[in-house]
Amino acid sequence: TDPEFSIVTRSYCTILAQFAQHLCDQYSVIPSGFFWDAITEMDEQNRPIHTFQVCHVMEPNQNNWLRSGWIQRQAAQRVYVELRFTLRDCNSIPWVSGTCKETFNLFYLQTDLDKVFNVGLKVDTIAADESFTQTDLGDRVLRLNTEVREVGPVTQKGFYLAFQDVGACIALVSVKVFYKRCPSTLRNLAAFPETVPHMDSSSLVEVRGACVENAEERDTPKLYCGADGDWLVPLGRCICSIGHEEMDGDCQACRPGFFKGNAGNFKCSKCPLHSSSHDQAATICHCDKGFYRANKDPPTMACTRPPSAPQNLVSLLNDTALFLHWMPPSNTGGRSDILYNVLCQRCDGGDSGATQCEPCEPDLRFIPRPLGITGTSVAILDFAMHANYTFHVEAVNGVSELGVAARSLANVTVTTHQSGKLLMKKDWATYSSIALSWSEVEPPPSEILDYEVKYYEKQEQLSYSSTRTRAASVVVTGLRPSTVYVFHVRARTAAGFTAYSPNFECATAAEGTKSAMETSNSALLYVSCLSVPFSGIKTYVDPDTYEDPTQAVEEFAKEIDPSYICIDRVIGAGEFGEVCSGRLRIPGRKDIAVAIKTLKGGYMEQQRREFLREASIIGQFNNSNIIRLEGVVTKSKPVMIVVEYMENGALDSFLRTRDGQFMVLQLVGMLRGIVVGMTYLSDMGYVHRDLAARNILVDENLVCKVSDFGMSRVLEDDSDAAYTATGGKIPIRWTAPEAIAYGKFSSASDVWSYGIVMWEVMSYGERPYWEMSNQDVILSIEEGYRLPAPIGCPVILHQLMLHCWQKEWGQRPHFNDILSFLDKLIINPSSMLTLVNDAMRYVFSQYDNAIKTSKGMLTKSNLET
Ligand code: ADE
Repeated sequence: TDPEFSIVTRSYCTILAQFAQHLCDQYSVIPSGFFWDAITEMDEQNRPIHTFQVCHVMEPNQNNWLRSGWIQRQAAQRVYVELRFTLRDCNSIPWVSGTCKETFNLFYLQTDLDKVFNVGLKVDTIAADESFTQTDLGDRVLRLNTEVREVGPVTQKGFYLAFQDVGACIALVSVKVFYKRCPSTLRNLAAFPETVPHMDSSSLVEVRGACVENAEERDTPKLYCGADGDWLVPLGRCICSIGHEEMDGDCQACRPGFFKGNAGNFKCSKCPLHSSSHDQAATICHCDKGFYRANKDPPTMACTRPPSAPQNLVSLLNDTALFLHWMPPSNTGGRSDILYNVLCQRCDGGDSGATQCEPCEPDLRFIPRPLGITGTSVAILDFAMHANYTFHVEAVNGVSELGVAARSLANVTVTTHQSGKLLMKKDWATYSSIALSWSEVEPPPSEILDYEVKYYEKQEQLSYSSTRTRAASVVVTGLRPSTVYVFHVRARTAAGFTAYSPNFECATAAEGTKSAMETSNSALLYVSCLSVPFSGIKTYVDPDTYEDPTQAVEEFAKEIDPSYICIDRVIGAGEFGEVCSGRLRIPGRKDIAVAIKTLKGGYMEQQRREFLREASIIGQFNNSNIIRLEGVVTKSKPVMIVVEYMENGALDSFLRTRDGQFMVLQLVGMLRGIVVGMTYLSDMGYVHRDLAARNILVDENLVCKVSDFGMSRVLEDDSDAAYTATGGKIPIRWTAPEAIAYGKFSSASDVWSYGIVMWEVMSYGERPYWEMSNQDVILSIEEGYRLPAPIGCPVILHQLMLHCWQKEWGQRPHFNDILSFLDKLIINPSSMLTLVNDAMRYVFSQYDNAIKTSKGMLTKSNLET
């Protein structure tokens, strides 16, 4: 307790015994001639120092012993003894002969009982680092030495220490006996008990921690206690349980207004909007009255409520379909998962004259469906004529079923009534033509402008052709012999189309037969055929409109027996799997070279659909500049899409490897092919969205074909596609500004992309806008900058490009305009003699003015002329 004598210990030492004034009685001087004396001295500051001293330096053969009392070992495995002492320098004592020593010995003896000490085991001979001299004594300088020795191993219940003096002049100032331990501690929310290190200093003691209150184990928490009393290698951890958060190494309950729904070392969250928690340690916040949480809503989401009724419900009745259109509800209830249900009632005047309502006929067709509509419109087909229908449109969201409030409905009543019915009849038929005429059963509301005849092979219901005629008759040619066709006709009036006439079935004659009409009046037939404009253009059917996309694949793609496909080699890697080249060897047909896209194993159903979606798109096209689908393999694995093989691969890499090797006319020929394909696509109502040289394939004759369909897949796959602020993935450099800014993709935006493809072709595969960032591209286009003409590019072609890049999409040429323009250039190649050479090459930045003032730009009208 005396400050000078209390030894400053490290926190992880347990002191077994300490020599100080009040403990001195425990030390006994073992009788042996001369003794150790208990002496109290004064230090430099005149404070008393209690010591044991011995100093018989003049007499030979000294053997003076001082021993401690019995020291209980307690939990100690390794015991340390710290000695503080002073020792006199023999040389400083006059007249001492060789009898003076400058060391003493430390001994220990372990016993289970407090019994008489016999000589034990020697621990060490202790020498002083600093010995004092006469001068020090005179100057009252205390040259104190501190030595620590390890004693042991000690395994019995206790031990004695003994100090043997053999003729030195020593003052033992203090003795501290201690062992080391790892102190109890908290780590990673686990409590570890005080632990004594292993006797063997090289091995660690593994200690398991116990999670603190309101915490739970995530991997057993462990620490290792090292020989020096240090905790080492923390492993595992505990985490705060639900309703509790970590604070100052503890897990404390969430305050009211906060919650924590999962165990973990993160903070309690504030209750989301429209919810609250009143108690401590809340694991969830409860929704306020009138607000709900759907099963799948995370507890962090605001509570929501059912939406209000849809707004501005309107109906539109045309000849065959009734359309309902509405606006989203003014109050979405705070959710985005809004769906609409259309409920239908048919309300007719009963016999009594009173209106009676009943559910609508079950065979009424709703497109896409009556319930769970994601869009804000629905088409209704097969309704009865002269009937009153009442439609209730209801908006629902994920919590509608939880609410008790009355449903909010928007209502509209529609009376179906149509006029202008036509009735068809067959005039004659040959093996390849059918002549039809029709009459009005019910006159249309306004003057007939012309008629549209739609027809298809009865067996092939999904692809149809149509033709227009001013006369109330038509001769349809180019038909297949012995085939049943289905015809409808409708009239176009200033007020729109009338209803189609009922299905009219009519078969062609067998091949080789000639009708009386044909033999007797072939000239007339020829004239009659010519007078009928025949367009025969089909419209593209989006496979996504099919409830089951597999059906679209079955409809548009032929199933190929996989044994007919011979794979030669891998030519590339697509998003879904490898692309291979090979041959299609259908028995009885000529072998054809094909490219085979495979769907790699382990796919999800959604990926399979995405993959096959492309086939159901390409399968609808039949054009020499669109990649041709040979068929699909869906009934066995691997799932494959087989298309015609294009020997020269993708147009961009093809041109890069042949820089400067083609004549301008050859390049224009390639561009023409692409326009032919694009005209076909736009006529069918298909918008490509990723028209770029990398998506054009080139065959051995340099014929270019548009490929890579199925926009969503393409853009996932397309390394040039970047995410926009709204989350869509768009190939910025190729995309028209209105499509980037607000998703307005159209054939006009495809025309913009076509202009970029022209630039890629004329620059032999240069990257549009070089290394500019996407953001810079968007900004410079917005400011009016446009790509300059590639070196050696005819000025007229660059003008055409600029025309495709008009900001206003309505001002851009249509693909068929571009086609006739290119045809004129090809017929008159001298128009392409003026090249953009280096001297007159526009510098990119100089375009600013030219574009803004439209100076030097091709307008739509001068392009047409
Ligand atoms: N790479 C992708 N499709 C291809 C095709 N049809 N021909 C050649 N290479 C291709």
